[in-house]
Amino acid sequence: MATELTLSVNGAKQTVTVDPDTPLLFVLRNELKLTGPKMGCGMAQCGACAVLLDGKEIRTCITPVSGVAGKQITTIEGLPALWAQEKSLSAAESETTLHPVQQAWIDEQVPQCGYCQSGMMITAVQLLSKNPNPSVDQIKDAFTNTPPSPHLCRCGTYAAIIDAVQRAAQAMRGEAR
Ligand code: FES
Ligand code: FES
Repeated sequence: MATELTLSVNGAKQTVTVDPDTPLLFVLRNELKLTGPKMGCGMAQCGACAVLLDGKEIRTCITPVSGVAGKQITTIEGLPALWAQEKSLSAAESETTLHPVQQAWIDEQVPQCGYCQSGMMITAVQLLSKNPNPSVDQIKDAFTNTPPSPHLCRCGTYAAIIDAVQRAAQAMRGEAR
């Protein structure tokens, strides 16, 4: 039965009326029009649908919306605001500043078809929040072994992702490239 739920998404309160068992992915995409997270496998095995929940990656294709009420949901659309908050950027700066992970993805020209990349960037943000200077092995591990990984890319962008994570890490540490 449809129920009214209040969600906190990208820093804003959102009220939706949905079946509590509805996967969060459908609510984000269909109710809130946040189309960054994608439906890939629908079985928690590819990572295309990833978002941050209180700063930790989750797979929204298998997460019932009732389980996330009261928690902070961050989609790729919310990454610039997350960075602006972390760095206390002015309103004007925050409107024109991407999260360093997003900027690194552009600078390294990571995406091919792009379908998996929202989830890839979510994992990168989580990794760099815990480890500001990851080694190549640690980056590979974050995208393959560390739950809820793996993240799959049918276009094979894995090498470019490693470069982009290293570039973003450098930028977030405030080091010139
Ligand atoms: S669509 Fe959710 S992990 Fe693949
Ligand atoms: S860029 Fe196409 S699936 Fe990853």
